[in-house]
Amino acid sequence: MQGAQIISIGSAVPDLCINNKEISQIVETSDEWIVNRTGIKERRMLTGTNKSVVDLAYSAAMKALDKIHMDPLELDLIVLATSSPNDLFGSASQVQAKIGAARAVAFDLTAACSGFVLAIVTATQFIQNGSYKNILIIGADVLSKWIDWSDRKTCILFGDGAGAAIIQACYEEDNAILGFQLNTDGKKYNELSITYKENSYSLNTLKLFQGQFQYISMNGKEVYKFAVSKVPASITKCLNALHLSIEDVNWLLLHQANKRILQAVANRLSIDNYKIISNLSKYGNTSAASIPLALDEAWQNNQITKEDIIVVSGFGAGLTWGTVVIKWKC
Ligand code: UT7
Repeated sequence: MQGAQIISIGSAVPDLCINNKEISQIVETSDEWIVNRTGIKERRMLTGTNKSVVDLAYSAAMKALDKIHMDPLELDLIVLATSSPNDLFGSASQVQAKIGAARAVAFDLTAACSGFVLAIVTATQFIQNGSYKNILIIGADVLSKWIDWSDRKTCILFGDGAGAAIIQACYEEDNAILGFQLNTDGKKYNELSITYKENSYSLNTLKLFQGQFQYISMNGKEVYKFAVSKVPASITKCLNALHLSIEDVNWLLLHQANKRILQAVANRLSIDNYKIISNLSKYGNTSAASIPLALDEAWQNNQITKEDIIVVSGFGAGLTWGTVVIKWKC
């Protein structure tokens, strides 16, 4: 078994910024309601002809590569965690071509807001079993393309963005992806979904069933309760398995869904509020991008430093949730 480390990270957001006041011109809401209930003040939105998740994923990936002067040809694997690809067959191959990582195999990973946690764990398996040495993982989403702009319960929440990390093989004793704990409860899939709705029609003697994906629909209250109860349990299990205590944790980095969720999870775990990494006031919920976006900012701001223990948890559609504990090595 080899070890695995995150050796670089980068992120990208679109230029267009939409604040709560602007949202309140689209649906009946207010800056006060959104800030009080979610902590979100503004979010970014991808616009422009033929712009897609690939553009954001590309920018984030290039920043992560440039920071360590890595040639894209050194990459063995690219995992793109996204639920908003520009091609139902996957977008990772377009990112592979665009960054010029001709040697790397590339695939999409669909696990909504838990996508980046799943991507870290997936990449780590390929490294720890000796298959690959350099892996680029990206969490990127453009949920603005799937929002019902007449639904004030969801359109206020989401923003677009991307974050990328490079995970590299290292000596076993330097392993910095310390452990993980993952879960899915598929019985609750319809609490948060972008469903596929089909119609039937006849073509000569053939009866065809074809349709389209709908907008995001979410039972906010249920997802809130799920997050606040299940995420602390996942973190506790993960820390216990690693024989780490809450005092060992330097930073808590949760999927940036709602400030109240972040605080409730920290409270349940008796983690001080100053240890919460959060930038959701500026970007809203960017789904698979939210964790790497916040991690990159925390690194750039020198908030996190080498050897810090960071507890990272994702949660969302599926329903899927999980934790990975990392030691920061950049
Ligand atoms: O990324 C995946 C994970 N997603 C999440 O973690 C989301 C989890 N859920 C949440 O963050 C919260 O449930 C929301 C922020 C979505 C909603 O907050 P809430 O405190 O649960 O509000 P609510 O749905 O219970 O609605 C309370 C009231 C309702 O009015 P009545 O029935 O009490 O008169 C809503 O109609 O607030 C109303 N409301 C709004 N008012 C102004 C709902 N949305 C809005 C809005 N502006 N945008």
